[in-house]
Amino acid sequence: MKIAVIGTGYVGLVTGTCFAETGNQVICVDVNEEKIEALKKGITPIYEPGLEVLLTRNIREERISFTNDLEAAVQDALVIFLALPTPSGEDGSADLKYVLQVAAQLGDLITSYRVVVNKSTVPVGTAEKVAAILSEKLPAELFDVVSNPEFLREGVAVDDFLKPERVVVGAGSERAAKIMEELYNPFVRQGNPVYFMDTRSAEMTKYAANSFLAMKISFMNEIANLCERTGANVDWVRIGIGSDQRIGKRFLFPGIGYGGSCFPKDVLALNLTAKEHAYDFKLLQSVLEVNRLQKGRIIEKLRAYFRNELNGKLLAVWGLAFKPETDDIRDAPSIDIIEALLAEGATVKVYDPVAMDNIHRKFGDQLGYSANQYEALQDADALLILTEWSEFRNPDFEKMKMQLKTPVVFDGRNVYALEKMKEQGFYYESMGRNT
Ligand code: UGA
Repeated sequence: MKIAVIGTGYVGLVTGTCFAETGNQVICVDVNEEKIEALKKGITPIYEPGLEVLLTRNIREERISFTNDLEAAVQDALVIFLALPTPSGEDGSADLKYVLQVAAQLGDLITSYRVVVNKSTVPVGTAEKVAAILSEKLPAELFDVVSNPEFLREGVAVDDFLKPERVVVGAGSERAAKIMEELYNPFVRQGNPVYFMDTRSAEMTKYAANSFLAMKISFMNEIANLCERTGANVDWVRIGIGSDQRIGKRFLFPGIGYGGSCFPKDVLALNLTAKEHAYDFKLLQSVLEVNRLQKGRIIEKLRAYFRNELNGKLLAVWGLAFKPETDDIRDAPSIDIIEALLAEGATVKVYDPVAMDNIHRKFGDQLGYSANQYEALQDADALLILTEWSEFRNPDFEKMKMQLKTPVVFDGRNVYALEKMKEQGFYYESMGRNT
């Protein structure tokens, strides 16, 4: 099948590459010329395990190509994916300007039947808005608008796309549904379903999924905070409740609050949708508040330990990305935490395996940057662990102790076993587990 993907961000690039991998002819479009030139050479602008290998192979096999020319891209493509950014507006609502602009351009370019697919996370009713714009220029039989939200996670995006637990397709016509079914057939052959529904339900499904997961994490963060106060250990509680299949084992890890380009933005946007419909979504508002407070918990622990004297302390930070296996620092809790430390007069020295450039762009010379994890510890009063990268899991504890001024670790991600840290002679605080 011939496919065009408009927008080569995270979702667009993974979508295009994975559809090429299953034998489709894919053309990806972006307004950014530099990005397109790099992609033609197989260089991806993002760090995503496995993506570059797949991309290079599909470029070589001539199944995927890149262009700045929207007209050329949509000339032959039966399915046109919109994978455009929907940044948060000032009030937190998803800004649809890119999606609607491209829809208007497509209205002028489409000359025979096309399926226009919304892949970006967009508020309920957007598919209808796109259809209304297309209808201004095109007769109804020349297009269908489909909502096909993406559920991939950064860091495991390729795997998530190639082996989805489900695919959700909101399609208004049989014709479009059949085309989408054919397109996704290679990914769901193991029995995972494609659910067909109306476009509004598909759009809501995406927000409901992300908001539910954000709520699950926030609930565990609150349980962890209560564990600390009651002497329970959240590790046991997590295992204890997670084995109930109605709850499930995943997304029960407490930490420093959820971050990334999706959960914070999507919870806010859904709350706004509720407001627009005069619905007071109390649970969602609590999720927003709990997550805001959770980012400050580790600072509270530090303040208590240093008797409110963070001023003049040298603090080492391991992990900056909002989660492991990505260089993404968008809405990363590390940013709020570092800002709070700086505001209290601490000196901060950081290390992350892949997010250093991004954090440097954000903080410039306000921070110290270390070439490796041990260098960051030199003379530090304490270490903070903010992302659970694998390489932090089994460190050389002796070397850590030698480098640190005092063997003090504040772990926002529960990377180490309590007994291990005690045995090694560290002062160790983590989330929801008492020392
Ligand atoms: C999330 C969803 O998981 C995807 O299904 C969805 O497609 C994507 O958003 C999106 O809307 O595009 P992602 O943002 O890549 O994916 O990251 P997650 O793995 O979901 O993690 C989000 C945040 O939650 C991270 O900050 C992570 O550290 C935190 N988290 C996750 C916890 O604190 N505890 C957990 O148990 C799990």
